[in-house]
Amino acid sequence: MEFESKIRLFMINIVLVFVLITSVHFTNNTHEGFVKELFSFNFEHIFTFLLFFLIQIIPIGIALYKFFSNRKNKLADSNLLSYKGINREQRIAANSVFYAKNNKFFEKEKSAMYISRNVQITTKKSHEHILLLGPTGSGKSASFFLPNLLSLDNVSLVVTDPKGELYRKSKAALEQKGYTVIHLNFNNPKRSAHYNLLANAKSYDDIRKISDSILSNGKDAGEWGNLSKTLLEAFLFHEFDHGNKNISNVVTEMATVSTNIEEMERFFQNSSQAAYMSFLQFKKTSSGDSYVSSVYATIQGKMKVYEIDSVIDIGSQNDFTPGTFRQQKSALFVSYPEDEAQLYSAFLAAFYYQLFNQIKTHKSVDEAYGKATGLPVYFLMDEFANIGKVPEIDVLLSTVRSKKMSLVLGIQSLDQIKKNYKDTFNIIVENCKTKIILGGTTGETAGYFSKMVGEEEYTNVSVSEGNKSLSTSTSTNKKSILSPDQIRRLKSYELICVSDNLKPFRDDKNYYFLDKTAYFLFKNLPFSVEKNDEIIRKYTSWKEKKQTKEVVQEKKIHIQQQRQERNEEKISVRQEKIMSKQDEIKQLREQRRRRDFE
Ligand SMILES: Nc1ncnc2c1ncn2[C@@H]1O[C@H](COP(=O)(O)OP(=O)(O)OP(=O)(O)O)[C@@H](O)[C@H]1O
Ligand SMILES: [Mg+2]
Repeated sequence: MEFESKIRLFMINIVLVFVLITSVHFTNNTHEGFVKELFSFNFEHIFTFLLFFLIQIIPIGIALYKFFSNRKNKLADSNLLSYKGINREQRIAANSVFYAKNNKFFEKEKSAMYISRNVQITTKKSHEHILLLGPTGSGKSASFFLPNLLSLDNVSLVVTDPKGELYRKSKAALEQKGYTVIHLNFNNPKRSAHYNLLANAKSYDDIRKISDSILSNGKDAGEWGNLSKTLLEAFLFHEFDHGNKNISNVVTEMATVSTNIEEMERFFQNSSQAAYMSFLQFKKTSSGDSYVSSVYATIQGKMKVYEIDSVIDIGSQNDFTPGTFRQQKSALFVSYPEDEAQLYSAFLAAFYYQLFNQIKTHKSVDEAYGKATGLPVYFLMDEFANIGKVPEIDVLLSTVRSKKMSLVLGIQSLDQIKKNYKDTFNIIVENCKTKIILGGTTGETAGYFSKMVGEEEYTNVSVSEGNKSLSTSTSTNKKSILSPDQIRRLKSYELICVSDNLKPFRDDKNYYFLDKTAYFLFKNLPFSVEKNDEIIRKYTSWKEKKQTKEVVQEKKIHIQQQRQERNEEKISVRQEKIMSKQDEIKQLREQRRRRDFE
């Protein structure tokens, strides 16, 4: 027999003997002479004995079962924690990443984001970024971005929100918390804030990055992409130095300037030095008018987005600057037509690059200028893959920790990042120290997570038949704690989170539309999904009605109180008047009395 099984048997025997002896002892105390009765085969009080035996054996049996089943599942490298095990795990790993529900700091830090229903990530650790993976409909918006928008405070927020659903559902709550809410809305430019990329550029280097963003996004430029760079820069420098600082003007400028290289040279000679230098670099690589025409066509193709009326309109003025986010609690939502994400990426990538960099280098977080008092800024990037390829995001992710910037990258699969960031994909994923996966994920993404969650050890017993006898052998093997298939089949309310050097944990998603009772019903009702949904809907609408009634009642009471206060004020003013009148009369009488007396 295996050594561990022998120990188990030995312990069970010891416990049984102990329980037997104590049961006999207790019965003998209750019915004196019980032991003697037993020896004379008198079982009159055997039920009392059995009762004592059961009272002891049931809890001890359960405890023993739990103890042994835990030992049996002891894992080799890792195991899946519940939120209750996080405190202990953090102590062992000497790392503080989360506030679990059983931690005294849970829900105390207003800038701590919710990872799941029972776990928040500390503000400090959120600066090491989060990757949120889940296919469409898995709850990225409803269980991560929205609940965090509703609960976060004391930080500024930049939210990628193509459909504008996060804006609609969180605007009122944010304003109530004192936030300035800004909506850059390409879906409805009439109701949008304005932002001018070129006017906000602080240096030629910033403009070069705008040019990079335009050329590395939009439709594929083939071989002309790199060759176009210097010419686009020349036009951007010209607009920056001599124009109204509006990128859309570059498109019209290019339409009017000839593609003849000599005529172009004359145009740039009369421009700024930076523009002329870029043009001269371009001229070195150019070979004939047809070459110039191809480069022109490439740039114009890439800049299509800047010809759209909404983009021209929104880019014509400036309602905010990146520095705003460091100085006052602000929430910016960026919405754009999702179906045309690729077209808009030539704007979005440049916009985000500028925002990241100017927020990163803002004086308020530079200790060279005194205490770093600037607000933390969280970038909640739902549909991160949609915004195109942001230049140098890999560098940004690894350098902004001390700058109080947190990025949450919400994507549907790892392939989505791979598509935009072929060479830097691994750096981006590695630099998101906390990774969350939702059910329904398949393919490489599920495989990647399965590996990260780790392996467990199990014992295999095999029996082989020899000539005369049977022999058994045991071997210890390893298997994935969660196979890719188990990750795909996570329940619709579950998520797995892997962070830093801690063991992974499984917890409930933090759906914003389910309160504690609704969540309990959601997880435990025994009926069909449709029936369960109906019951939850009824409960939710009953609760909303109740809350509305309470709010109305509160308002009524408030109005009554105000009315009463006003009345009291009026009465006291009237009383004061009467008293002063009475004083006046008294004085007059006194004066008259004196006069009469004299
Ligand atoms: N207020 C609500 N009441 C009930 N169910 C809701 C509510 N809001 C969202 N849901 C449900 O929650 C689930 C998750 O939706 P959610 O929009 O968060 O998914 P997602 O991962 O963001 O998907 P996508 O990538 O398409 O944006 C969906 O099944 C949706 O129907
Ligand atoms: Mg969503």
